Amino acid sequence: MLAGRGARVTGIDISPRLIEIARARDPEGTIEYRAADLAAPLPEYAGRFDAVASYLALNDVYDYCGFVTSLGEALRPGGSLVVALNNPYSYVVRKHVADYFDSGTAFPYRGMAAEGIKVHFYHRTLEEYLDAFYAAGLGLTKLVDVRTASNNQDTLLPEGFRFPFMNQVLSKFGGTPNLNRLARRGPTAL
Ligand SMILES: C[S@@+](CC[C@H](N)C(=O)[O-])C[C@H]1O[C@@H](n2cnc3c(N)ncnc32)[C@H](O)[C@@H]1O
Repeated sequence: MLAGRGARVTGIDISPRLIEIARARDPEGTIEYRAADLAAPLPEYAGRFDAVASYLALNDVYDYCGFVTSLGEALRPGGSLVVALNNPYSYVVRKHVADYFDSGTAFPYRGMAAEGIKVHFYHRTLEEYLDAFYAAGLGLTKLVDVRTASNNQDTLLPEGFRFPFMNQVLSKFGGTPNLNRLARRGPTAL
């Protein structure tokens, strides 16, 4: 989306196979792709990005503090971070955990486990996620409860119940996030 609006975009994922697939979908090489572990320090990206977006990766990363630190370090001062993550309270509501404070519990993705692929997602408390953002020098400016589409009944909830599908946490070193403005200016984005 951002590349389509003129931004210079870098896409990073830990999976070389997924990066290969993404590259194949961008034959003109508009986006720079790289396979890297975002939980490990990436000093070559320090302060290089106007905006960082992470979509549903945070819950899947074992070292979530390292991951958040890398995202924060990649931003220039005043840059914006948008993170979509599963709502930690939903792990109780959807019966993944009985005890909200059972932080660190790992769950296999059932569909992928059936195919023999070992991928896990993790439960942590909202407080722990926010503390990781604050420790990385990021402040919460907006939290968005993303609605499940009304034609898409959440199969883990009883009929008629609604709960946010996920949250988007928008963070920044001060000011109001404005990704449209950033895209028009043609920033580098991760
Ligand atoms: C649920 S998928 C979401 C992928 C993509 N954002 C999407 O919405 O289709 C989680 C992604 O996080 C990636 N991931 C997990 N741990 C990572 C890490 N330490 N560094 C970078 N990427 C990681 C996985 O390889 C996977 O592609």
